[in-house]
Amino acid sequence: MTSTRKVWLNGAFIGWEAATVPLLSHGFSRASAIFEVFGIHEGPGGPFAFRMDEHLNRLMQSARLLGMEMAYSRKEMGQAVAQTVKTNAMGRGLIKILAYWGQEAVVQLVLESKLDTAIFAIPENEALHLDDPRPISACLSKWRKLHPETVPVAAKACANYLNGYLARRDAASRGFDVGLLVGTDGFLAEGSMESVFLVKGGVLKTPPLGRILPSITRRSILQVASAMGIPVLEEALPAEALFSADEIFTAHTGTKVSPVARFEDKTLPAPGPISKKLMEKMGRILAFQEDAFKDWLIPLK
Ligand SMILES: Cc1ncc(COP(=O)(O)O)c(C=O)c1O
Repeated sequence: MTSTRKVWLNGAFIGWEAATVPLLSHGFSRASAIFEVFGIHEGPGGPFAFRMDEHLNRLMQSARLLGMEMAYSRKEMGQAVAQTVKTNAMGRGLIKILAYWGQEAVVQLVLESKLDTAIFAIPENEALHLDDPRPISACLSKWRKLHPETVPVAAKACANYLNGYLARRDAASRGFDVGLLVGTDGFLAEGSMESVFLVKGGVLKTPPLGRILPSITRRSILQVASAMGIPVLEEALPAEALFSADEIFTAHTGTKVSPVARFEDKTLPAPGPISKKLMEKMGRILAFQEDAFKDWLIPLK
């Protein structure tokens, strides 16, 4: 199945199976790679990428935060994404971009070369749960979110995902879909690969930037909620706020809004009224039915 797929690697297409790195590469053996994932949607006249500019900006920012140098400009990356979607004749699906040091680095910690860049087109499939509106369950993870003074948490870096992996494994072992991480200061941060929102007394609340990945979906939901007249607050939230929330949902690029039906031993409406409104609005935006947000879908030519 993957044998016909092509991967964009440093400016040329190669077969999916050939897109590998040496085990001793810095990217693999030190997990120093950075990445982005965003949605491709079928729209009028062809494929569109959801907020691709924002995702490419974040990729550039991840490189800057880690002292790494990208080999391609945002414009070149955008063109490469369009070529990758076209070459793979992909409809709905995800683009995953990886930027990494593919060269071997046995003892060197710091490399000066520009990053290798790979772009993968991953067509929609069951396991991706794209646009899945089904409610999920969530718990508080026993693991704390990486402290922002230990690594730049705003960088979408592979190494940061060991933290997310542990939270997800811990949640799964307790029978929950998602583990929500609290920072070492006791305030809520995010999930392994999702932002978290709660609703209390009609106000939509989410932890502030600085302790979390600057999620594009999170920002989109805050913008949509404001446009709909829903009061929003980005504020430090103690973990207890989750226990007294009227509604909870998580958000990431694949599903946008995932309502939480069970948080620890508490049952919640899923979706609750505000989550439902946001789900419907995001659905309309992605169906090209909201002129005010049509710039979020970038045509891939
Ligand atoms: C830790 C973390 N938080 C939040 C998100 C959501 O970010 P985005 O909306 O850009 O998908 C992700 C996505 O992968 C993530 O890994």
